[in-house]
Amino acid sequence: MHLGKVLVVFGTRPEAIKLAPVIKELKKVEDIDTVVLVTAQHREMLDQVLQLFKIEPDYDLDLMRDKQDLHSITTGVLNGVREVLEKEKPDLVVVHGDTTTTFAASLAAFYERIPVAHVEAGLRTYNKYSPFPEEVNRSLTARLAELHFAPTDINRDNLLRESIGDIRIWVTGNTVIDALMQTVRPNFKFGSELSSVNFNRRLLLVTTHRRENWGSRMEQIYQALLDLLDEFEDIEVIFPVHKNPVVREVAEAMLGGRERMHLIEPLDYEPFANLMNMSYLILTDSGGLQEEAPSLGKPVLVLRDTTERPEAVKAGTVKLVGTNRDRVYREARNLLANQLEYHKMARSINPYGDGKASSRIVRVIVDFLYARIGAQ
Ligand code: UD1
Ligand code: UDP
Repeated sequence: MHLGKVLVVFGTRPEAIKLAPVIKELKKVEDIDTVVLVTAQHREMLDQVLQLFKIEPDYDLDLMRDKQDLHSITTGVLNGVREVLEKEKPDLVVVHGDTTTTFAASLAAFYERIPVAHVEAGLRTYNKYSPFPEEVNRSLTARLAELHFAPTDINRDNLLRESIGDIRIWVTGNTVIDALMQTVRPNFKFGSELSSVNFNRRLLLVTTHRRENWGSRMEQIYQALLDLLDEFEDIEVIFPVHKNPVVREVAEAMLGGRERMHLIEPLDYEPFANLMNMSYLILTDSGGLQEEAPSLGKPVLVLRDTTERPEAVKAGTVKLVGTNRDRVYREARNLLANQLEYHKMARSINPYGDGKASSRIVRVIVDFLYARIGAQ
């Protein structure tokens, strides 16, 4: 019995990583016609993930432009997704998270009166400008969605407070743990991209890209990294630099050519996930890393003032440290110089999932499509 057509829409690296296991599960259901649309809000960073998980999109809007702005991504996605909706007439649109693709694709579906399923729903800081514009993208998507897949109980409670009905929320765990468990393995062999790294030293893994950190905040973070390299001769900093030119220019100007500082291209997810597993300490403003690192038992210093992922902060394996040069330096120094402090944070916990989130999500989608047929 044909259950219906599901259109999965995404545009950036993290969405692709976190939807890959969902697409895999959906494709196992023969009675569902799964169609994949990428907006390509990211290009190279998205393609890396598509290749790894062998996802061949049915549609590619190829939207990315150098130094694109939020208005142009929004209108590009809205109009591009509209055309595919008109042609494919799906029964459900699946989106993920908090990007501009997520919000604009949900709006396009709403205008066509097509229900939306939101994966990774209910994360909140309640600060409109942090993360910017992701906090508002995610909240607006909740207003538009029909099915809400919340990773944790905290996320579910946030949605309930916003008057989203209990019967439309499912606590599933985060699909990033599904992706991580399919990717990290012991004795992983790294390729030439990391050939200059001395793995006998302690590895600090760094990523930065958030818009609210652009400018002097990012400079302060990079100054703190230089301070740490000066003080600790047994560390190497590995920094896969986001493709965004705003980030690249500052990183290269301040950190390029320094000894034991590896400014490298964004890594494919497979070496990146395995590198996290080999790291001593992670410094990041990323959302996804805050979810992945706790499962691997790696302490994380979050280079932000707010987080929509409080679970691991409460458990004590992730710490919000902001972007002040002195603070970032002191917090990292504390973990590098003090073994007791380090081991308090370096514990493996799993607040974000058990690796089975995608199969839970697909079960709900199957029930939803059955109920829809019954109602027609
Ligand atoms: C976007 C999302 C953010 C998500 C992040 C994950 C928005 C507003 N932001 O932010 O929510 O957390 O992705 O990484 O939706 N670029 C390339 N190649 C790539 C990717 C980016 O060259 O593969 C460059 C382009 O010059 C592009 C710029 O980076 O214009 C910015 O990309 P954009 O998607 O606007 O912003 P992100 O900071 O990546
Ligand atoms: N990641 C990757 N290669 C890299 C850096 C990050 O594959 O060089 C992965 C990382 O494991 C995580 C995701 O990309 O799953 C996070 O992406 P990003 O930090 O760009 O976005 P955010 O999580 O903040 O939305």
